[in-house]
Amino acid sequence: MKKAFAPASRFTLFSAVIILSISSLTSCSDPSPDASQQQLIASLSEPQRLLFEQGQLKAYSCAACHGRNGISSHPNYPSLAGRSATELASALTAYRTGERKHALMTPQARGLSNTDIDALAYYFSLQQPMVASKQAD
Ligand code: HEC
Repeated sequence: MKKAFAPASRFTLFSAVIILSISSLTSCSDPSPDASQQQLIASLSEPQRLLFEQGQLKAYSCAACHGRNGISSHPNYPSLAGRSATELASALTAYRTGERKHALMTPQARGLSNTDIDALAYYFSLQQPMVASKQAD
């Protein structure tokens, strides 16, 4: 009697673990734009919005190093938020052509089209930069 019950409860436990891990995964990679992004998008014209959204999608592959909104959490990775789009685009183009080389960035830029670069540069230029508020202790 006890034996016949055991596999079923193990299965229940197993599914509970799976469901829990799936829900925690989806909550940490929530693709819906937050309120500030929605406000920003609402202020853009149609062509700007399309470019912004293309950049936002592409920027997922940059998030691990530069942060989702271009604010890096490590000094080795420069923050991109609020920097000039022209400057960002020319840095990306320089990595792509090999004029500027970096072990991590060169492979990132290699596959980008001109439109990808424009979209990424536009997206990051519109992000709110981190306000310097850290005081030396
Ligand atoms: C694996 C980590 C990593 C990923 C992923 C990555 N980068 Fe970078 N990125 C770096 C590092 C490190 C640097 C600084 C390199 C250097 O000193 O030349 C950098 C530099 C840059 C720069 C130049 C910034 C400056 O201050 O001159 C730009 C622009 C940039 N990255 C954009 C992007 C974009 C856009 C993506 C996504 C398509 C991306 N990066 C993905 C690590 C990464």
